[in-house]
Amino acid sequence: MTMHRTQVAIIGAGPSGLLLGQLLSRAGIDNIVLERKSGDYVLGRIRAGVLEQTTCDLLDEAGVGERMHAEGMPHGGIELCFGGKRHRIDMRGLTGGKQVVVYGQTEVTRDLMAARTAASVMTVYSAADVALHEFDDSTRPRVTYTHDGEPHEIRCDFIAGCDGYHGVSRASVPPDALSIYEKVYQFGWLGVLADTKPVSDELIYSNHERGFALCSMRSATRARYYLQCSLKDRVEDWSDAMFWDELRRRLDPEAAESLVTGPSIEKSIAPLRSFVAEPMRFGRLFLAGDAAHIVPPTGAKGLNLAASDVRFLSHALIEHYRQGSDDGIVHYSERCLDRIWKAERFSWWFSGLMHKFPETGAIGQKLQLAELKYLVSSRAAATTLAENYVGLPFDAPA
Ligand code: FAD
Ligand code: PHB
Repeated sequence: MTMHRTQVAIIGAGPSGLLLGQLLSRAGIDNIVLERKSGDYVLGRIRAGVLEQTTCDLLDEAGVGERMHAEGMPHGGIELCFGGKRHRIDMRGLTGGKQVVVYGQTEVTRDLMAARTAASVMTVYSAADVALHEFDDSTRPRVTYTHDGEPHEIRCDFIAGCDGYHGVSRASVPPDALSIYEKVYQFGWLGVLADTKPVSDELIYSNHERGFALCSMRSATRARYYLQCSLKDRVEDWSDAMFWDELRRRLDPEAAESLVTGPSIEKSIAPLRSFVAEPMRFGRLFLAGDAAHIVPPTGAKGLNLAASDVRFLSHALIEHYRQGSDDGIVHYSERCLDRIWKAERFSWWFSGLMHKFPETGAIGQKLQLAELKYLVSSRAAATTLAENYVGLPFDAPA
């Protein structure tokens, strides 16, 4: 058995684990990241694309914001499409100048991996059988794993469970210590990435009687599109031609006409769920990001919430080591959850507004249409959408 010693053992090299590691390393706090998959596999996953200002600020604080500023695309508005027409929500105008930046999760991960490699901080990819031990307050935690067939053990002060929805960290907590809140949607999102010019300069969220569609992008030459699909669908059932035809049908005539199609370079189906596990701290184990909560992607909050947890957790650990204060540790869970529930509410509301729910019948559709019309005609309603989309402030009163 090879023994290691560190201050914080981080499980998972997704955006939350890598960002936490980077913030801790910069503060002089020793950490080790354990990741089940290979680095190439982690970089091959195509996921989120929209960063809130507070997420951009945290990437700057972590010293990895340079490429995001150079290549990310600031967006000051989104378009809502319904009844065959597009309507712009002027997020910048409605929020006193706030905006989001379109910069892929893949690129955020790549920048964080590069920083970790440059600083030679220990990261173990393809770590198998990761197991968490003795993380209650009275003991010193340990993490065991195997790598290249050899057993290893890490002794640490704290464990950060940043290993996503299917990870081992939340599963290591006794079930009766957790409260789970969950809603599973009866449809999924079929996503396509293509090296084509995006159909519009801004994101288009479309409510259509055939189902929801989203036009997003990764750069001026790389488009990311999504279609609401059945959970029974398999990626192989959707040829590229079928995808483009269906997307055209769900857009307004002008966008449908100008849509540039091309071969897909990635195609996948993601299920939609709302999920929160409370609390987020168990003695010396902290959960962060998707390990503790999932939002349906409609509001683009998944990655931003992960960053928001990491902000609270990095500040709490830095305060612990620098000032000997455990205030941030004690209040970690409640501070995170306050923000998480607001983002859960927004994502649930926006998902409900934009998707087709056959079970609600004709009245459901009429009510959606009335709300959409209200949204694009009332400054108060549009402001509610805009201020949530760009990200709620951290210091909002309860
Ligand atoms: P993850 O990115 O899931 O990272 C967790 C890491 O832990 C992974 O690398 C995993 O391999 C590793 N791991 C798991 N188990 C173990 C273990 N036992 N030992 C060691 N390592 C382990 N959000 C949006 O805003 N927009 C989107 O379009 C969008 N699309 C998504 C599509 C999919 C298929 C998924 C799953 C999520 C999507 N999200 C989207 C959500 C967003 O990507 C996540 O919120 C974000 O990735 C959370 O980061 P994380 O680091 O907490 O978790
Ligand atoms: C994306 O670009 O992948 C994306 C953008 C906005 C969303 C969800 C996903 O709401």
